[in-house]
Amino acid sequence: MIRLSTQLLVVLAHVYTASSQSCPDYSTYSKTRHEPFSSGRYALSSARPPPECRTFNSSALESLLQSASDTIADPDLLRLFQNTYPNTLDTAIKWHGFAANNSEEELTFIITGDINAMWLRDSANQLQSYLPLLEPSPDFISLASLFRGAINLQSRYILTSPFCNSFQPPPESGLGPSPNPASDSDIVFPPYSPDQVFECKYELDSLASFLQLSTEYHEATHDSSFFSKFSWLEAVKTILATAKAMTAPTYSPITNRPLSSPYTFTRKTTRSTETLPNDGLGHPVSPTTGLIRSAFRPSDDSTTYQFLIPSNMLFCRYLASASLIASAINQSSLASEMMDFSNSLRQAIQTHGVVSIPSGDNGTTEKVYAYEIDGFGSSLLQDDANLPSLLSAPVMGYLGAADPIYTATRNRVLSTKNPYYAHGELLKGVGSAHTGPGKVWPMSLIVQIMTSEDDDEIRGALKEILQSTDGLGLIHESVDGWDGSKWTREWFGWVNGLFGGMVLDLGRRKPEVLKESFQ
Ligand SMILES: *[C@@H]1O[C@H](CO)[C@@H](O)[C@H](O)[C@H]1NC(C)=O
Ligand SMILES: *[C@@H]1O[C@H](CO)[C@@H](O)[C@H](O)[C@H]1NC(C)=O
Ligand SMILES: *[C@@H]1O[C@H](CO)[C@@H](O)[C@H](O)[C@H]1NC(C)=O
Ligand SMILES: *[C@@H]1O[C@H](CO)[C@@H](O)[C@H](O)[C@H]1NC(C)=O
Repeated sequence: MIRLSTQLLVVLAHVYTASSQSCPDYSTYSKTRHEPFSSGRYALSSARPPPECRTFNSSALESLLQSASDTIADPDLLRLFQNTYPNTLDTAIKWHGFAANNSEEELTFIITGDINAMWLRDSANQLQSYLPLLEPSPDFISLASLFRGAINLQSRYILTSPFCNSFQPPPESGLGPSPNPASDSDIVFPPYSPDQVFECKYELDSLASFLQLSTEYHEATHDSSFFSKFSWLEAVKTILATAKAMTAPTYSPITNRPLSSPYTFTRKTTRSTETLPNDGLGHPVSPTTGLIRSAFRPSDDSTTYQFLIPSNMLFCRYLASASLIASAINQSSLASEMMDFSNSLRQAIQTHGVVSIPSGDNGTTEKVYAYEIDGFGSSLLQDDANLPSLLSAPVMGYLGAADPIYTATRNRVLSTKNPYYAHGELLKGVGSAHTGPGKVWPMSLIVQIMTSEDDDEIRGALKEILQSTDGLGLIHESVDGWDGSKWTREWFGWVNGLFGGMVLDLGRRKPEVLKESFQ
């Protein structure tokens, strides 16, 4: 997310109009505590909006929340799960309807939370949390329809502005665009319309998220025919063209002259991570890596070196699975192109994205994944809490958690060898340049649990998350490692769903841990 001043958030909060006059603005609602509080030591708020103000109803979801008390023993953990898991359905389905020019084409506009726009990455992940509830259904009032609607709207966004990361509501919704004062000074190539685009930071993981969402819907429903009905194929072709264009080096290997970039971005700002060096080009990248550039990270901060390894991993993994959708709708040459590209990316990641570093004082080395590389030999050894991250490589399904290079990378990422590991007295975890040193992102603690088989590590991280909510009973973006009353983003849909999904996953993998007390 971009960092917004408090003043701007207030403006955006006013732009948000609740579905009913009497419904509280959720940005305000989520910043105050509501009774009844949970009975444990953290006395967590009841954070769900009143039933009449919820943006989507699901009876399957309600029964799951009801029955959670059978599997989760701790009263605070139970409350945190019941508040967080439904958060996107409760608060962020801003509009669900049909395209003006095709009465069968469902559209779903999902806001990220306290910012009134739809991010490709966030919305894909916001829906991902509900995969355990997804069943095939042709009905408009179904979770399946929400997925189809998001895929259709994301297709439209990608066809409109393939380099952009967050978007305005579709005209059909009647919601109207939100202003984004942070973007006022942006100079972006290719240009875009602020009526359609909220912000235009080119992030490879945004394109990968579309392939992820498509794969997940397809695998859960086997509904292949959906993918040949609307703009999905065209969107995939646009993604391939965009990603291939972004494999171009800085210098032409033939003429040795600088090449013009398919994308440039500058902004007037005091934060170096909100703009790109070299007049919007980014730092130079070498020829012949076969990796795809990303101007920005999933934190919406600019990359230091443009070959961002976790985003290449995500793209590689979901390009392969989405090729099966192309096969299923008889697009065999497109399917092979996708599979070939995915295979060549995997090779490029393993060749260029793995670096050998000293592992002790005795001259031995170990291999780890770099976070970013430039292809000239420079690499950035760190991780960032936002997904995709190096820590999340097994969660995205790029590799298995027992992979030795991953294990070495994980050990490093979760230690003070990672410059963005924040280690406070209250919380310890991965942070982000987005919020600065000393701030732990609960998202990283959630992913730490998802990638761990160690019960003690899981218990420790769960306990830290429970003490990170400032009594509000929702997961925040970042929390000061020493002072839990200092946090960012009261309403961050994605991380709340991710927490809920992690608890459901623990229920399958480690049911005995959920039977414990965390008091
Ligand atoms: C959800 O159900 C409540 C009643 O419990 C209703 O008031 C509300 O309008 C419903 N929301 C939607 C989006 O249908
Ligand atoms: C339908 O309308 C949308 C929004 O105006 C537009 O982007 C899209 O290209 C249209 N599709 C067709 C098939 O005309
Ligand atoms: C793909 O081809 C098969 C075999 O010819 C056919 O049965 C199926 O309906 C086709 N699917 C689509 C989506 O065109
Ligand atoms: C060198 O140090 C590393 C890290 O401390 C250790 O794992 C390894 O066994 C040592 N190797 C030798 C040959 O002493």
